[in-house]
Amino acid sequence: MKRIYFNEVVTRDGFQMEPEFVATDDKIALIDALSACGYAKIEVTSFTSPKAIPMLRDAEEVMARIKRLPGVDYTVLVPNLRGAERAFEAKADELNLVMSMSETHNRANLRMSMAQSFAAISEIIQRAQGLAAVNVSLSTAFGCPMEGDVPQAVVLGYAQRFVDAGVRGLTICDTTGMAHPAQVSRMADAVQTLAGQLQLTMHFHNTRGMGLANVLAAVQSGITRFDGSMGGLGGCPYAPGASGNVCSEDAIHMLDAMGYETGIDLDKLLAVARQMPDIVGHTVPGQVAKAGRISQLHPTPVAQA
Ligand code: COA
Ligand code: ZN
Repeated sequence: MKRIYFNEVVTRDGFQMEPEFVATDDKIALIDALSACGYAKIEVTSFTSPKAIPMLRDAEEVMARIKRLPGVDYTVLVPNLRGAERAFEAKADELNLVMSMSETHNRANLRMSMAQSFAAISEIIQRAQGLAAVNVSLSTAFGCPMEGDVPQAVVLGYAQRFVDAGVRGLTICDTTGMAHPAQVSRMADAVQTLAGQLQLTMHFHNTRGMGLANVLAAVQSGITRFDGSMGGLGGCPYAPGASGNVCSEDAIHMLDAMGYETGIDLDKLLAVARQMPDIVGHTVPGQVAKAGRISQLHPTPVAQA
């Protein structure tokens, strides 16, 4: 059965909106536990302004102290040139550069026009040669919470420019959960036609309950790489009403049940997922960590025996 690759983003996308600071030691212990679960990639942190995202102000220390397992790519989100310099210094395997596909969201999130972001990203791609792989995340690719529809042609236009610039991968992001499965299938077909030779990842949020349906639509259209967040934590600080990412363990459990090869040790993963409420101090949306795997049966109630 087809191999599916997961990128765990809980310690970046998952944590960035959490109100209570997660201790640096807890972040490191969590990433080390995730490394042992079989992920292809882990988005460890972001090199953003500590004023903008105080939760990730310990990015350098986290990158320095995690145990890097061979075979796992350790990637970091980078919003600008200053962030790229910090990421090179931290010896990240990959820089995940980000820009939005809508002007309003890009300005709110990155305080740059799309043209300025494109210029900065192009320069970082040049500088990254020989230092780190580059992935570009195209945010709000399925719709902008301020502007509404984002034409697929805009997304494909930027995708083509980044293919030409020589990136290793592209992530098509549904930053605020506006995508629906039919739209995902159309996008999956179009980006694979345009950039099938790259690592193509899809990044969904479950804001309107369509997260897993979108993963399924993408898989059935040939996409093999996904971002997910433990427990379904996550959100974008500049997207009103944003909520969690698609829950990693729920998505992996679903694909595993369907016979896809995810590379993940599901029992280990669920053991880590069950620690999430203690780590963040509240309940989390993920379902399978609460209900158990479908293979985990319950004793027949005595009255019916
Ligand atoms: N790392 C650390 N500090 C940074 C930085 C970076 N990548 N980029 C800017 N800064 C600092 C500057 O040094 C400056 O510090 P000072 O006030 O002490 O002098 C301050 O931030 C403002 O710098 P400026 O260049 O004016 O940046 P800005 O205020 O326009 O912020 C961003 C731009 C993108 C860095 C900031 O908005 C940000 O980090 N946003 C977070 C984006 C994000 O992660 N969104 C969610 C994920 S998509
Ligand atoms: Zn996201």
